Amino acid sequence: MARKDMRGSRITSIAFHVPDRLVTNYDLERMIDTSDEWIVQRTGIKQRHWVEGDVGASELALPASIEALEKAGLKASDLDMIIFATLSPDITFPGSACILQAKLGCPGIAALDISNQCTGFIYSLSVADQFIRTGSMNRILVVGAEVHSSGLDISNKGRDVTVLFGDGAGAVLIEATEGDSRIIDTRLHADGRYLDILKIVAPASKLNPRVTHEMLDKGLQYPYMEGRAVFKQAIARLPQVINEILDANGYSVSDVDLLVPHQANLRINEMVIGIMGIPRSKMVSNIDRYGNTTAASIPIALCEAVEDGRLKSGDLVLLAAFGAGLTWGAGLVRW
Ligand code: ACO
Repeated sequence: MARKDMRGSRITSIAFHVPDRLVTNYDLERMIDTSDEWIVQRTGIKQRHWVEGDVGASELALPASIEALEKAGLKASDLDMIIFATLSPDITFPGSACILQAKLGCPGIAALDISNQCTGFIYSLSVADQFIRTGSMNRILVVGAEVHSSGLDISNKGRDVTVLFGDGAGAVLIEATEGDSRIIDTRLHADGRYLDILKIVAPASKLNPRVTHEMLDKGLQYPYMEGRAVFKQAIARLPQVINEILDANGYSVSDVDLLVPHQANLRINEMVIGIMGIPRSKMVSNIDRYGNTTAASIPIALCEAVEDGRLKSGDLVLLAAFGAGLTWGAGLVRW
């Protein structure tokens, strides 16, 4: 349970941004051999937002970050650190947190990139929480942002992956607190033995040269996914980490007011709540409108839940994510 006298951290502001271009399943039907029925049945996705032209993850993160700061009445110069979760950084290096820092105009503060795919937001939240609990920092901007669309194989060969992903960004401000509204706990896990079931092979430092025309011809720059293996792992790991975080903090499933899971696949999330005995009415789902936005999916869903009034002050919120790595994790928040 949260103790009032203990320094902790709290999400004080939240915002998100998606690009204007809407790509429905029917639009995809015109690009590749797929159907709205196949996509909806297997994933719950009806549409996603994709960028147009040359747009990097930091460009989607910027408006979300500015809005989160404005809602809190803060300036970028009030921040101590930016943590940027993404698997689609603007460029290989430097990290997108440095790029966003320059765009926000707050030179000098710490800027950290987190590359933990769909669990990136939970990892970032956990890192921010630790820095604030120790007293080393007071205000951290955590951003999850992805531009998937420029890295997808929009051909029949890539159709299993291409239909899943959307672009977007979510930003939260994490600030020090001594009150009950706080991040109660986070739990992080990974199992690198399964790294081959979801990955991008090239460009890579272990290849010399890192990318060749032959690699590009083979499509090694596109995500490779063993969909069924990923699915099986997700429905095993998510209930495990949910039980772990609830048990460790003396809560049961019935105490949870709202579950905000990573939006990878509606079927995965429905199976997880079935296993856990969580009613459908307590789960936030917006995958139908955004697809899988990876590190951005939880902050986008959380923001919508706040905006539509589903998430109220005092609620116990459970966050849970699973993705490539494999990585998985959970967060428990008293809102
Ligand atoms: N449209 C139409 N048909 C398709 C498509 C498509 N977009 N993609 C594949 N198919 C076909 C296949 O070719 C196959 O045809 P066949 O039977 O003639 O060989 C058939 O559909 C079934 O293919 P499967 O891959 O077996 O389909 P499955 O039921 O496993 O569903 C899916 C695929 C939706 C990808 C599922 O496995 C899944 O959701 N897995 C989890 C994926 C996931 O969550 N990934 C994100 C992790 S998050 C991260 O870290 C980035």
